[in-house]
This record gives sequence, structure tokens and C-alpha cells, in this order.
Amino acid sequence: MKIEASAPSNIALIKYMGKTPGNRPANPSLSYTLEHLRSFVTIEPIAGERDEWRPLSGYQPISLSEKGLGKFLNHFARLKDHWRVLGAYRISSANNFPSDCGLASSASSFAALTEATYALAKATHPGLEVSNEELSVLSRQGSGSSCRSFFSPWAEWEDEGARALDLDLRLEHAVIVVDERVKEVSSSNAHELVNTSPNWVGRTSRAKERLEKLKVALRDGDWRMAFEICWDEFLDMHSLFETATPAFSYLNGGSKEVLIKLREIWGRDGDGPLITMDAGANVHILIRPDQIRAAEQWLDGFKVIKSWGE
Ligand code: PMV
Repeated sequence: MKIEASAPSNIALIKYMGKTPGNRPANPSLSYTLEHLRSFVTIEPIAGERDEWRPLSGYQPISLSEKGLGKFLNHFARLKDHWRVLGAYRISSANNFPSDCGLASSASSFAALTEATYALAKATHPGLEVSNEELSVLSRQGSGSSCRSFFSPWAEWEDEGARALDLDLRLEHAVIVVDERVKEVSSSNAHELVNTSPNWVGRTSRAKERLEKLKVALRDGDWRMAFEICWDEFLDMHSLFETATPAFSYLNGGSKEVLIKLREIWGRDGDGPLITMDAGANVHILIRPDQIRAAEQWLDGFKVIKSWGE
């Protein structure tokens, strides 16, 4: 028996940053699901009592730190316990994009592991049916941002698990890759440190306010307003990092160069992409389908992973 599953990543426009126990978020978040950036997981039974992990071949090379491996296998153990699945298994996983550098690989890998373990549980208990909302709640316990990957294209997450956001707007995504190295401060550490920042005061209400305004802007097609909210929001999150004790930073010279260039487009044309950054150096953009041709020019000369074809 070999179980296979895959799940997409997602990029938050209103960020989940800071948490309470059980991976509950300090503030609500809103994301766009990235169907082209995916994690793949297989599960096979093995002899013995201990689950194990290995990279899945055929995708981007991946290695897990001891902490990362522990978190992944703990999530599997928690799910096996939840669905009363017995036995030991080999989990193989990989992504079709670089890991741990601000491309939200934890979202897709934990969502894919949750999906794969659900498939394993269904094989064990025929007739088991679990909704995406329930899978989202379970996945959140492994990695918060993964709970939004069960809904596409838009997801909103406030507490236990995420839900689909009813918004009839399809966008294209690109990430400008300025650094593929594994980041030095993991998002788990970032979640722990942000409340030491003086800017933490008021963070929850700022994020809530932006979330409501962003939904209105996206529904009304007010693209400039959407850009301004997303810009303020990711800089708010990064200002928490820069002013934490100890302070840390994800932005490098390459990130700043890209940000300046992208913002200039707005100054010049009065139009441009939505811009955001996760806990990493790489810069994400979302564009309307009618901006694809212009985006080819904006991104010229940069290393890019994008959702649209050549
Ligand atoms: O799911 P985690 O614990 O890796 O948190 C990731 C948080 C950010 O990616 C920085 C923001 C977000 O909302 O996805």
C-alpha cells in the first residue's frame, strides 16, 4: 500500500504573525492559494515501531533540520492518534519549489501531510468522511499557515481553522527569488519573538482593520487600495522582526532592490502588482490576468517562479 497526496502553498496578504498556545493566531489572516507551488507526500507501511521520513525523489532537493523533522513526525503522530491509525510508516515528502526560504513551504508540506494521513485513515476506516474545514483545524496544529491551503483561491483564518472566502477574483502569482538559502530564523522563532517588539502594541487591531478594508477593496476592484493595504501590512510584520529583542531581519539588498523597482512601477504607471513578503527574503507579487504582459517586463532580469506560462 502506498498513499500519495499533494497540497498547494498559500501567500498571506494579511499575515498570521504571533500566536497563542495550540497554534491559534494572534490575529486573523487572509491568503491566496498558490496551486503551482505544491508539496507531495507519500506514506508506506514499514516494519518496526518508529515512523521515519525521507526526501521524495523527483522534486527539489530537501533536507529537514532535526527540529523540522520532529515537528513533521509529531504532526503525523498526532493525526494517527486522532484517526486511530496503527503501525509505523515511512513518510516521503518534497516540494516543487525551494524550501524554508520564505516561499511558505511549511504551509504546503503540512497541508499535504494532513491530506495524505487522511487518505491513510480512509484506507484504514472505509467510510470516514472529513470536511476541508475539519482538515484545516487538524492541519493548523502542525503549522498555522497550512490551515489556509484547504481552500482555493481565497482563504480567511481567524481561530480554530480557516474557511473559504467568497471572492470572485482570480489572480496570477510570481515570487522573485533573491535568496534560496534556508533562512536563519524560522517562522516558529519569529512567532515567539514578535511580542517583544514595541510595535506589538496594537498589532492585532491593525491587522483586523486592514483585513476588513482589504476585503472591501478586492470586492470593489479598488486595486490601488489593495496594493497600499498589502504594502503596509507586510512592512508592519517586518517592522516587528526588526524591532524585536533580539532584532532579526529577513530583508537583504536583493529584496530591497526588488521592492524599490516594483514600487516605482506604481509611481510611474499608477498601476502595478500587489506586493508582499513572508518571513524570508523573497518578494511575492499577485497580479490581475490583464497585467501578465506588463509583468513580463517588470520581472525581466530577475529569477522568478510564476504561475503563468511563457
Ligand atoms: O505556519 P507558520 O508557523 O510557518 O507561520 C508562517 C507565517 C507567515 O508565513 C510569515 C505569514 C502567514 O500568514 O503565512
